[in-house]
Amino acid sequence: MIEHGTFTGAREQDYPLAVRQVAALWEAGLPLFSNLANVSALLAQCLPRTNWAGFYLWDEARKQLVLGPFQGLPACTCIDFGRGVCGTAVREKRTQLVPDVHQFPGHIACDSASASEIVVPLLRDRGVLGVIDVDSPEKARFDAADQEFLEEVASALVTLWPR
Ligand code: SME
Repeated sequence: MIEHGTFTGAREQDYPLAVRQVAALWEAGLPLFSNLANVSALLAQCLPRTNWAGFYLWDEARKQLVLGPFQGLPACTCIDFGRGVCGTAVREKRTQLVPDVHQFPGHIACDSASASEIVVPLLRDRGVLGVIDVDSPEKARFDAADQEFLEEVASALVTLWPR
């Protein structure tokens, strides 16, 4: 069970624990949004100095990302392929580590407090299921260790994601 104080701020402990918790919290058979709601809460708890953590899900009919479960301020609901940091992660099918969002061409500002951002695509069978998006009010908040952690979370999610 995750409680206040479960995450200590020492990421060499917190990140492996959080990856294990993704699978432990997941309840197969529940709607996807229920499981992703818990994962977004988990990410917000274990990633200090962040102001938004959650999901955009790829909608094949719309050819857009649509807002999924998240923690943070209300956000833009639909993002076109190739637009912003999230749409770029979908187009390039790789993580976008953005130390300064104001330097990223086409960045979509949902929370004016956001200064840096990381977006990790959820890739399965050569397709994109969606993205994990985390924002921070601190410039250059995310580094290679954060990227490795979120990519492990993404791998775990892709195996759990219903077909
Ligand atoms: N900044 C993102 C939009 C989503 S918000 O950060 C929650 C982007 O440029 O795609």
